[in-house]
Amino acid sequence: MINILLVGSGAREVAIARKIKESSIESSLFCVASSTNPQIKKLSSAYFEQSLGDVCSVVAVAKKVSVDIAIIGPENPLELGLVDALEKEGVACVGPRKAVAKIETSKAFARSILDSCAPEKNPKRKVFSSLDGCEDFLKHLKKGYVVKYDGLMGGKGVKISGEHLHSTNDALLYADSIVGLGGSFLVEEKLLGEEFSLMSFCDGEHCSHMPVVQDHKRAFEGDVGPNTGGMGTYSFGNHSLPFLSEKNVLDAQKTNERVALELEKQTGQKFRGVLYGGFMLTESGVKVIEYNARLGDPEAMNVLAVLETDFIKICQSIVGGTLADLEVSFSKKATVCKYVVPEGYPENPAKNFEVFCNPENKSLYLAAVQERGGDIFATGSRTAAFVGTNKDIVVAESLAEVGVSEIGGNLFHRKDIGTSSLIKSRINHMKEVLS
Ligand code: AMP
Ligand code: GLY
Repeated sequence: MINILLVGSGAREVAIARKIKESSIESSLFCVASSTNPQIKKLSSAYFEQSLGDVCSVVAVAKKVSVDIAIIGPENPLELGLVDALEKEGVACVGPRKAVAKIETSKAFARSILDSCAPEKNPKRKVFSSLDGCEDFLKHLKKGYVVKYDGLMGGKGVKISGEHLHSTNDALLYADSIVGLGGSFLVEEKLLGEEFSLMSFCDGEHCSHMPVVQDHKRAFEGDVGPNTGGMGTYSFGNHSLPFLSEKNVLDAQKTNERVALELEKQTGQKFRGVLYGGFMLTESGVKVIEYNARLGDPEAMNVLAVLETDFIKICQSIVGGTLADLEVSFSKKATVCKYVVPEGYPENPAKNFEVFCNPENKSLYLAAVQERGGDIFATGSRTAAFVGTNKDIVVAESLAEVGVSEIGGNLFHRKDIGTSSLIKSRINHMKEVLS
């Protein structure tokens, strides 16, 4: 019997909780999260609803229930040093310590790690903590630029020329708003191409790679609108994507492996958890857009839906440093995941309205919700995801579309995610970029 603490209560954590309960290893699952997700609560021996911002009280929960392994879902507790605090109390963690999680929490740090181990994966860029020199650099990047807040902003701190920023003045105003908050920012060359996510289970030395997934960050159909945490994702049965070559996938895998080793070199600590590389295939090869230090959301729902290897065994291998001895395999099925989000999301989302769905459905993953008196209410961020899984991506997409459409409430979703026409347009876009 093993006691597992799951930190977080979104759709990603529902996917993790289900894999824990599917394991051949008997476990008691405990969850600590800032809201009550009825799907996780049902699988848990005890559920602790409390702020994740208070590391000490999360550690107190872990001690109270004698946790063996903690799995940290979201990024904010990593930044607060939850893993450092839990490890001090003898709790093994799937998730990196604060100094290593900096690969996600500071975009400037991520770029400098890459400079040391895979410099060709970096775009041209500069880090600023004031507007000095910013205008000159924006003008120097003739093909466009991206302005990024150097910290966590739930995927919403990035603004791109031609899409969100329509003049140098727009860019300077956004940069100035970051400086006004006391932050620093990066200006990067705007890369053109197709994005993909490659996540790897990592014990600090060995990486076991997951299938490649494509996320859709923009809020609206046709890839327009503000950036979001991710509106939906798809993956193919061959674990690659139709616009990628085998060499491109290997290149991304190698990059994750190099980054894991470089992190230990520079911080003295091993990366134990999931290393998530956000990549883009461009005319000059595979480039890195960002790194995350956890399972992606929605990507977790795609990869865990097809994971064949026992999830608790993977967690034990991550914390025990024996991942190289475990064969990690995924079934050869395609997946499509679509999120429903509140009207007005991400800028001005509706909140506190009731959501109507069947929480017993194993393809449904509740996310930003709060259970009250047996009813489910949306709390204002991504509300629920629905995953279609099938050998044929066309079938997977229609399963996801039907499932997501049946979720009732003041919600919307992107119908285009995973459709043949959107995937075809991705392939054509890649051909154009490479020609
Ligand atoms: P990030 O939070 O760094 O992943 O950025 C969010 C989104 O902004 C990415 O998924 C990309 O679509 C876009 N983005 C970030 N950096 C760049 C870049 N250098 N060039 C083009 N697009 C970018
Ligand atoms: N899907 C993007 C993320 O998890 O950050």
